[in-house]
Amino acid sequence: MALYSDKVMDHFTNPRNVGKIENADGVGEVGNAKCGDIMKIYLQVDDNGIITDVKFNTFGCASAIASSSMATCLIKGKPVSEALELTNKAVVEALEGLPAVKVHCSVLAEEAIKAAVKDYYDRNGIEYDPETFKEKHSHEE
Ligand code: FES
Repeated sequence: MALYSDKVMDHFTNPRNVGKIENADGVGEVGNAKCGDIMKIYLQVDDNGIITDVKFNTFGCASAIASSSMATCLIKGKPVSEALELTNKAVVEALEGLPAVKVHCSVLAEEAIKAAVKDYYDRNGIEYDPETFKEKHSHEE
C-alpha cells in the first residue's frame, strides 16, 4: 500500500485556497514545536457569520499542506460555528487517511482554524466559551 492516499497526493501537489486574504476577518497561526511546521489560516466572514473565503499559508510537510488544503475546502461556505467543530479526525477521514506519525499535521489544521475563529470572535466582540479554545493534547504524537 502506498504511504499516502491519492487524496493526500492530490491536495499536496495541487493545494486549494493557498494564499493570504488582505483585511481578513480572522487570522490564526499555529506551530508545532517538535517539527517546526507553521500554519496560518485567513478567514473572510460575512454579516451572517458565513465563511465566504478562506486561505492558508503553510510552511510544513506534505501532510500539513494537504491537511490545510482539505480543511479549507471543508469549511468554505460554512457558518463559523460549524468550522469550529471541524476535527482533525474529519480532516484525516476526508484525506482518506494519514500515516500515524503524520496525524499531528492534521491537528495543526484544526488548531489553525480554531485560532482564526477565535480571532474573528475577539475582533467582533462575540462572546464564547473559553473552553472551546482550550488546547487539546495536540502536540503529542
Ligand atoms: Fe509536523 Fe507535518 S511533520 S506538521
